[in-house]
Amino acid sequence: MALWAGRFKKEINADVNAFNSSISFDARMYKHDIMGSQAHAKMLAKQGIISRQDLDEILQGLNDILQEIEEGKLLFDPEAEDIHMFIEAELTKRYPVSGKKLHTARSRNDQVALDLRLYTRDEMNDIKNMLIELMKVMIEKAKDHTHTIMCGYTHLQRAQPITFAHHLMAYVEMFYRDYTRLEDCLKRMNVSPLGSGALATTTYPIDRMFVAQELGMDDIMYNSLDGVSDRDYAIELANDLAMIMMHLSRLSEEIILWCSWEFKYIELDDAYATGSSIMPQKKNPDIAELVRGKSARVINHVSTLLTMMKGLPLAYNKDMQEDKETLFDSIDQVKMCLPVFTDMIKTMKVNVERMKECAAKGFINATDCADYLVKKGRAFREAYKTTGQLVAYCIDHDEVLETLPLNVYQSFDEVFDEDIYQAISLLTCIENRKVEGGPAPVTCQKAIERMVKKLEAL
Ligand code: ARG
Repeated sequence: MALWAGRFKKEINADVNAFNSSISFDARMYKHDIMGSQAHAKMLAKQGIISRQDLDEILQGLNDILQEIEEGKLLFDPEAEDIHMFIEAELTKRYPVSGKKLHTARSRNDQVALDLRLYTRDEMNDIKNMLIELMKVMIEKAKDHTHTIMCGYTHLQRAQPITFAHHLMAYVEMFYRDYTRLEDCLKRMNVSPLGSGALATTTYPIDRMFVAQELGMDDIMYNSLDGVSDRDYAIELANDLAMIMMHLSRLSEEIILWCSWEFKYIELDDAYATGSSIMPQKKNPDIAELVRGKSARVINHVSTLLTMMKGLPLAYNKDMQEDKETLFDSIDQVKMCLPVFTDMIKTMKVNVERMKECAAKGFINATDCADYLVKKGRAFREAYKTTGQLVAYCIDHDEVLETLPLNVYQSFDEVFDEDIYQAISLLTCIENRKVEGGPAPVTCQKAIERMVKKLEAL
């Protein structure tokens, strides 16, 4: 019989029970359910609502249950309605008198609202650490490549010279923002709804702040209807996770391009690539592809959650049980992707020569050639046009700006001099871009140091 059986004359239909049950996916919150119950029980005893002895038994029982679950000795009953009912029933089996008192002044509505906050708080912490790991690995790679000249692209067309370090650090900036977004979400996640009851609190003289403090939460929620029915933080988290996946997916896309035969900018370590069952020559970037692929579902979970919530009247509705599978899947996917992705980056080889070779071909120093003319007194638009004509000439004559003889330069504009070759050397091009945020090795090194300090301060 269900714990709520009193009003019912019949057992629940077995199919309905299976349909209704969430234990298959909410069992993972067992630790947080137990933590929450222990804090609640301590508060009940402190307020004189249950006795010291009741409390001792409840704490003991819950500790035993926790340990047995972790040791694999206590298995979840698939017929239980949810993890909350399972644990309470288990406690009541062991301590029939005190176990039945645990749920005083509490509802499953505020209980599940609390548990999900505690659970996501822990998961978020893991994810934050994984992000730090990824950033550290990328920073280490960047340090090795502050002088590795590569093509920067717009429209996937060769645009201007940058360095591989500068490119990597762009992603580190994104991941850092992802980190701070999680930190920000924590402010709204880490508040206690317990004491909201089913929807309208309770008549018992409970101490809500005590429970919040016991659980390391910053505050309590100040409206009970909101307390049981707010999932904003969960949607924020889903969104923050989607953002991480979007960033991972963009970098994946680049990695996939970079290890193609056409680019050959990098080579993935054999342990982080796969072969083909038929084509013996193949080495496929499956990890990056799968990360890119998985971003789709994580992105869509945000819209599932928003859509699930948008029509719900206050306060709790069973629809909200649907928050878990989506949110848990987002968490699981991100936790799966981040560590493999980090190792893939750590072990990949960078083909410095190939990057340089490509950078030497796409006229990516054309802007610098125009800027050279500006420095010699020409207006930018004029200089731009002359350089465009020079590029067209080079294409027709199978030359690059670096190989064009000075007399040809001078036939386009007489101000060209020997120093043009220095001005358009790719190294000069990047070294001159030392404006804050730019690819110049000194500037990039500064950006790296700044980021290292920011990570140390986390
Ligand atoms: N399993 C439920 C959920 O995840 C727990 C809350 C159920 N409350 C209720 N009154 N039926 O949302």
